[in-house]
Amino acid sequence: MNLDGLRVAVTGAARDTGRLLAESFAQRGARVFLSARDLSAAERVADAINQWGPGRAEAFSCDLAVPDSVRAFATALAGRTDHLDVLVNNGAPYVHGDDLGEVSDDEIGGVIAAGGTGTVLVTKHLLPLLRASARPDIVNMISACGEVGHRRSGAHPAFYAAKHAHAGLAEILSYRLRPAGIRVISLFPPDFVQQGARQADHDLTARSVVDCVLFAVGQPRDCFIREFHFEQVRPPSPGL
Ligand SMILES: NC(=O)c1ccc[n+]([C@@H]2O[C@H](COP(=O)([O-])OP(=O)(O)OC[C@H]3O[C@@H](n4cnc5c(N)ncnc54)[C@H](OP(=O)(O)O)[C@@H]3O)[C@@H](O)[C@H]2O)c1
Repeated sequence: MNLDGLRVAVTGAARDTGRLLAESFAQRGARVFLSARDLSAAERVADAINQWGPGRAEAFSCDLAVPDSVRAFATALAGRTDHLDVLVNNGAPYVHGDDLGEVSDDEIGGVIAAGGTGTVLVTKHLLPLLRASARPDIVNMISACGEVGHRRSGAHPAFYAAKHAHAGLAEILSYRLRPAGIRVISLFPPDFVQQGARQADHDLTARSVVDCVLFAVGQPRDCFIREFHFEQVRPPSPGL
């Protein structure tokens, strides 16, 4: 798939799936604007991408839990490009645990501030650049934890809350931005692993999730894939 010159922003892109997304878009020729809380970590990923090509990458600082940081990221991005073709809302802190009481108030606040409010704000502030694109897409890395009735993850309730906020944003934006030609593409994967065999009896891998994103973004504009839902192939942890 040739994504030559596509302008793509990825949040939380200094490691794991966000990094794989940034690399995968760049490998197909995209110009990637990757952000992370730690600017130097983002710069290391951008440097590596720029060594391999064929796409290019630029690094930005963005802490989704800090509104000023989100606004500064949007301003910096607007200084580098007059339009954005794809925003991947990937960054989100994970917190584990069955018991609501076992995680501190600060950590709960941070999970919801970043995954909930931060995702709304980054989308809000990058929307003008997306509207200036001839082929705009917003991709949301949500989670099965954002599905109504889902109970199979060991994630903390604050993570469920943040992912339901993200899912609510995606649901209404998909409807309201459709007339403007902006596709809102959301993924609801179960727990997945960064590395592993891509076989039926193994956990879902980040590579397969990223391939879903590339497939959806690569479709012609008459094809608007709104959501990806996944059967959880592996059984849940005992007690869930
Ligand atoms: N892995 C799974 O099983 C799974 C399943 C379903 C959905 N998802 C979702 O898919 C996405 C990628 O998953 P992953 O496995 O790569 O997640 P991950 O390993 O937990 O990485 C989370 C990413 O979000 C970033 N992040 C955390 N807090 C942030 C903040 N305040 N501001 C900006 N970025 C922040 C992290 O950056 P730092 O390096 O700064 O911490 C990291 O890049 C996430 O949205 C995740 O919730 C994952």
